Amino acid sequence: MTNQQNARTLLRQQLRQRRTSLSLSEQQSASDALLHNVTALPQWKSANFIASYLANDGEIDLSNVMHHAWQQKRHTTLPVIHPFSPKHLLFLRFTPTTLLVKNRFNIDEPALACPSVVPLQEHDIILMPLVGFDEAGNRLGMGGGFYDRALASFRNKSKRPWLVGTAHDCQCVEHLPVAPWDVPLDVIVTPTRVISPT
Ligand SMILES: Nc1ncnc2c1ncn2[C@@H]1O[C@H](COP(=O)(O)OP(=O)(O)OP(=O)(O)O)[C@@H](O)[C@H]1O
Ligand SMILES: [Mg+2]
Repeated sequence: MTNQQNARTLLRQQLRQRRTSLSLSEQQSASDALLHNVTALPQWKSANFIASYLANDGEIDLSNVMHHAWQQKRHTTLPVIHPFSPKHLLFLRFTPTTLLVKNRFNIDEPALACPSVVPLQEHDIILMPLVGFDEAGNRLGMGGGFYDRALASFRNKSKRPWLVGTAHDCQCVEHLPVAPWDVPLDVIVTPTRVISPT
């Protein structure tokens, strides 16, 4: 392992520990505050398709954001591990009646059904979980490279989904060690801040 890989692995352990140490009531108030900040984003107003996630491992919970989206007749999707290409993600429609099944990481995902697949480029907003972020918009995930792979072909496209990292405030670090394949975020939203990298 290179020094940078070591640094990323160590940082992941420390930051995951921070978010899993939050109490249930801290998680709930963080989630309430996040709802306010996400739905106040100017891009939210016109967003029709919004990719989200089901919180795991202390990630900030977006259930209330998805309920809010449904009330406003917006469409939500969740990531699903590709059945034939297991390092890649598909995004599938998620509604209040969607049947969920466990994936190989024991995370719930919509049961695979081709008509429910929404191409990534048809999304307006992608709400992305993260382990760490910095104010330059860099994102450290769980280490699978799933989002980086999914977003690689959009990197320099002008028309692409708006990439929104959602996080607890304690996920912020001064400078993340960045790898060439890491896709930066357009904005990071926490319970107390909306950070637009310059
Ligand atoms: N566009 C890509 N094409 C092929 N492999 C990639 C790509 N992006 C990342 N990877 C691979 O994924 C591995 C993990 O990447 P990284 O450490 O950035 O994960 P991460 O961003 O923390 O994870 P995730 O996005 O799943 O939360 C890297 O070692 C890299 O080899
Ligand atoms: Mg990455």
